[in-house]
Amino acid sequence: MSVFQTNNRGFLKVPDMDCRKNPPFLVILVASHHDQIKTRMAIRETWGKERVVADKRIVTFFLLGSTLHPHDQPTILMESLLYKDIIQKDFVDTYYNLTLKTLMGLEWVRTFCPQSSFVMKTDSDMFVNPFYLTELLLKKNRTTRFFTGALTMHGHPVRDPRSKWYVSREEYPWNKYPHYCSGAGYVFSTDVATHMYIVSKKIPFLKLEDVFVGLCLSHLKIKLEVLCSKPVFFIRRIEFSPCRYKKLVTSHFITPTEMMVFWHGLEKSIDEECPGGHP
Ligand SMILES: *[C@@H]1O[C@H](CO)[C@@H](O)[C@H](O)[C@H]1NC(C)=O
Ligand SMILES: *[C@@H]1O[C@H](CO)[C@@H](O)[C@H](O)[C@H]1NC(C)=O
Repeated sequence: MSVFQTNNRGFLKVPDMDCRKNPPFLVILVASHHDQIKTRMAIRETWGKERVVADKRIVTFFLLGSTLHPHDQPTILMESLLYKDIIQKDFVDTYYNLTLKTLMGLEWVRTFCPQSSFVMKTDSDMFVNPFYLTELLLKKNRTTRFFTGALTMHGHPVRDPRSKWYVSREEYPWNKYPHYCSGAGYVFSTDVATHMYIVSKKIPFLKLEDVFVGLCLSHLKIKLEVLCSKPVFFIRRIEFSPCRYKKLVTSHFITPTEMMVFWHGLEKSIDEECPGGHP
């Protein structure tokens, strides 16, 4: 028997959750990698723990590809059995397969959780503030064709083969990218998952996940919007202070240990006033 047995519609692992009963308001999908067990544990204990904010249920799942070392798979099966929060398909888990990983997340939402209201895709070195995100989504009061995040405009392909972001003219012949949101963290209404998943089949594959998502959205004529009049999606590291972190949705380059420390700092001060009410 292969360790890569699939169960549901080509998925190796899916979370044990019936979205038809008590559908979540927000599903957070975290691109992760087999080795990052410590990070996943930190996320499970902090911002990724299942919780209810303003009567809205928030759940967090991890996106994994398949490991090149089949003996790693039993560990993943064990983890999945224990935490029931892993979405996995059989593609080789490499940086340049991140687009496949995101598409897998979209496919899971479309197949297993179309009843949810919003989806966030983020990375495992991010700090996410689910309280503020929920507050802003409720305030924004949008239900369909909504997409937001850290907007990147006027991007263009890097043609230097030594770069991590190198894209050849064969892969992408044009000189400009569409507007897109950084893959470090973006949020959309759940209907967009289905639209993007369907349109993704018609769009030439691009290994840069966030640009690819931008191409799908531009094809669908879905505009990128701001969630708040002030920036809240940071793709750089924001040094921790309770007042700053109360008013942001993402901060980048956070270690598992810092996640714990920042999270406890945030929770402890959640009911405290901040001077001026702003970070
Ligand atoms: C992506 O995954 C596919 C399917 O497993 C594999 O054939 C391909 O080599 C992977 N691509 C990269 C760049 O790792
Ligand atoms: C939210 O939007 C709907 C229409 O889509 C409107 O009927 C409702 O009053 C709005 N709620 C708030 C709190 O703005």
